[in-house]
Amino acid sequence: MSSTSEIRVFAPATVANVACGYDVLGFAIDSPGDEIVVRHAEKPGLRITQITGDNGMLPKDPSQNTAGVAALDLLRHLGMTDRGIEMEIHKKLPFGSGLGSSAASAVAGAFAVNKLIGEPLSKQQLLPFAMTGEASADGAWHADNVAPCLLGGIVFIRSNEELDVAQLQAPANLWCAVVHPDIEILTRIAREILPKEIPLINATQQIGNLGGLLCGIIQEDYGLISRSIHDVIAEPRRQKLIPNFYKAKRAALAAGALGFSISGAGPSVFALCEGEETAHKVAEAVSKIFLSIPLNCQAYVSRINPHGVHVIGEPSKS
Ligand code: HSE
Repeated sequence: MSSTSEIRVFAPATVANVACGYDVLGFAIDSPGDEIVVRHAEKPGLRITQITGDNGMLPKDPSQNTAGVAALDLLRHLGMTDRGIEMEIHKKLPFGSGLGSSAASAVAGAFAVNKLIGEPLSKQQLLPFAMTGEASADGAWHADNVAPCLLGGIVFIRSNEELDVAQLQAPANLWCAVVHPDIEILTRIAREILPKEIPLINATQQIGNLGGLLCGIIQEDYGLISRSIHDVIAEPRRQKLIPNFYKAKRAALAAGALGFSISGAGPSVFALCEGEETAHKVAEAVSKIFLSIPLNCQAYVSRINPHGVHVIGEPSKS
């Protein structure tokens, strides 16, 4: 076992769906993200000792807490539930924001505990435990936030059931602008408004766009990426939950975005852009639309984060 007595980790926000990849495509951004600190303790069992940034909304009972559920599931798998571990959770990602808040906590919980106990599992092997944590929060089983948060890069999920995922590196000059308007959308509600069945024509369009987007990413073909970022399934239904969505989309495209859509279940929106300067222009143009409503918002400009969850700061040694 490692002699590390305390680990602090950072788990980044993620953009799920990426327009045409409902439940099967996502990427991580550099910030914001959740932080979790874990340390060894005398008393057996996992205890959550402190939660900040949650406005008192999150339970400290690990079996009821997304990060706790992920960590407990991992410890159960390893036969180590008696291990004394204290956990602090520092929420930086708002709930119901479309930025993968519950996924970040679940990933951070599993990753931090795995590190603390000497890293018996690889990042890839932590995926099912982080998934269990996230599913405890939103009741659905989709890896498009958890997998990119854990692994970094752009992650395509061939099968959510089998957790068969493929990680892609982003083109060097691909940037993203994410804008979070200050409203909350429950993922459950945003999923309920989607149809259970879709016309074949829409399925064909969506598959074409998803294939085009993946090819564009692999071939670093910004034109193909741009032609492919279209969602004919979720966006037309969900846009009504986001004030001025189409105005914001027009503003983003006019400012040079390759494409624009809803981040996860919303209300955050995102644009992919070629180059940092364009991404800043797009973030500003979209923010202006929300601010004019008026609706306060936060903008983030980032490259695609290639690393996912990672240890931050200097861990203290025992
Ligand atoms: N793929 C999910 C959805 C992401 O769109 O509902 C939300 O967490």
